Amino acid sequence: MDEKDMGSDLKSVLITKQEIDDKLAELAARIDADYAGRDLLIVGVLKGAVMVMADLARALSHPVKMDWMAVSSYGSGTKSSGVVRILKDLDTDIAGKDVLVVEDIIDSGLTLSWLLTNLGSRGPASIAVCTLLRKPEAAKVAIDVKYVGFDIPNEFVVGYGLDYAEKYRNLPFVGTLAPHVYGG
Ligand code: XMP
Ligand code: MG
Repeated sequence: MDEKDMGSDLKSVLITKQEIDDKLAELAARIDADYAGRDLLIVGVLKGAVMVMADLARALSHPVKMDWMAVSSYGSGTKSSGVVRILKDLDTDIAGKDVLVVEDIIDSGLTLSWLLTNLGSRGPASIAVCTLLRKPEAAKVAIDVKYVGFDIPNEFVVGYGLDYAEKYRNLPFVGTLAPHVYGG
């Protein structure tokens, strides 16, 4: 799918594929430098982080290990509550490991904050966060996000892993939805 094929469901393209590629190359270079000479486990948070994980991992020169977690945040509509349930846990024991959590988006930061407490209790050597997108609300939460791709406006976005009712994850760019799609 490209930007010409998005039809009328999308309002606008917020971040192009090229901008994402360039940003991930930049973040990958920083991660390579920061973890030089160390083993690194990157943990993708399903399902949204699938695209970021795949492209970030390939942009790294570092031979990382990859694992996945799936969590579900209880909440109404598009707001998360911070009450989180693990749907799929890591296959890996992270005790003593350097861990980098890879996220698609941080909105309120509640999900990530819970996840960091949970993973932190397993005794990793270090834990850091990389996210492609961050919304303004997240800036109010005391989470140290070491690698941020883009700070974006407080709008619902889809594409590049992000969905609306499980659709649009496969768009190669990040866009905003037209109001008619979500009944606005
Ligand atoms: P919190 O608020 O806990 O939630 O940081 C983060 C999770 O909320 C989802 N989310 C979005 N999903 N477009 C999406 O497709 C968005 O604009 C959006 N904002 C938040 C997402 O699952 C993320 O992991
Ligand atoms: Mg997510």
